[in-house]
Amino acid sequence: MNVLIVGASAGLGRALAEEGARLGHNLLLVATDARDLASLQSDLTLRYQIRTAGMVCDLSDERNVIDGVVHAAELFGTDGIMFPVGVASDHDTGTLDEAAALRLMNVNFVKPSSIIAKLWPVLARRQSAFVTGFGSVAAIRGRSRNVVYSAAKRALTSYFESLCHMSTRTNIAVQLYQMGFIETQQTFGKKLLFPACTPSEAARYVWAKHGETGLWFFPAFWGLIDTILRSIPLSIYRKLDF
Ligand SMILES: NC(=O)c1ccc[n+]([C@@H]2O[C@H](COP(=O)([O-])OP(=O)(O)OC[C@H]3O[C@@H](n4cnc5c(N)ncnc54)[C@H](OP(=O)(O)O)[C@@H]3O)[C@@H](O)[C@H]2O)c1
Repeated sequence: MNVLIVGASAGLGRALAEEGARLGHNLLLVATDARDLASLQSDLTLRYQIRTAGMVCDLSDERNVIDGVVHAAELFGTDGIMFPVGVASDHDTGTLDEAAALRLMNVNFVKPSSIIAKLWPVLARRQSAFVTGFGSVAAIRGRSRNVVYSAAKRALTSYFESLCHMSTRTNIAVQLYQMGFIETQQTFGKKLLFPACTPSEAARYVWAKHGETGLWFFPAFWGLIDTILRSIPLSIYRKLDF
């Protein structure tokens, strides 16, 4: 398949690119840094003899930056899209100013959903296609940290739920993974309440399921934590410090 990966240069995105290349898929890679993309592209092309292309795009930009990505995806013959893109901020404790909040909303929800909206008709014409998003367990319930990030990820989850409905009677498979902790730059040096998975474990799992439609937690034990956290009455939950 010809697969667009948005947020391909690091962490889970890089692992998805490596696993996708190993499986023989052609890859259009998007991130903010041209040098990161160029070295990843040449490495994957050399090792796996696949077709690659790179596209620099900063999704936090308020301007219309996605048209270039959409155009490149059409030219590439894209029939699958993955969105391992995401950004969080240590300052996101409830007092972010509008510009900073918009940057988080753009990267984590607005721009990915806008790209999907523009490419959905293209995917619908393919014999088989897929769209994969990555939410976060941070969105299970609001906390005093990652306030805007978790709101954006909750919006993304709701959006993917709708995509699952929209995809009925199409050949587009839709997946949303609510990710637990992953060993990447987002968790580096942080004390974690639960064990983290490696990016390559997650990437192998995601690629193995890319033709299915559904919303899942990864690792799966987060489904149980979700049930427990949601069952705690707000009067008690709001006193928990995490
Ligand atoms: N790590 C965790 O524990 C964890 C937990 C829950 C959910 N998640 C979610 O899982 C996904 C993967 O996370 P990760 O830890 O692998 O992330 P990561 O290591 O921080 O990598 C994020 C990727 O997104 C790209 N990116 C960031 N900001 C961008 C922007 N403004 N425009 C375009 N590309 C941008 C980065 O490229 P550049 O470096 O070029 O910006 C990088 O390729 C994300 O959606 C994340 O929110 C992660």
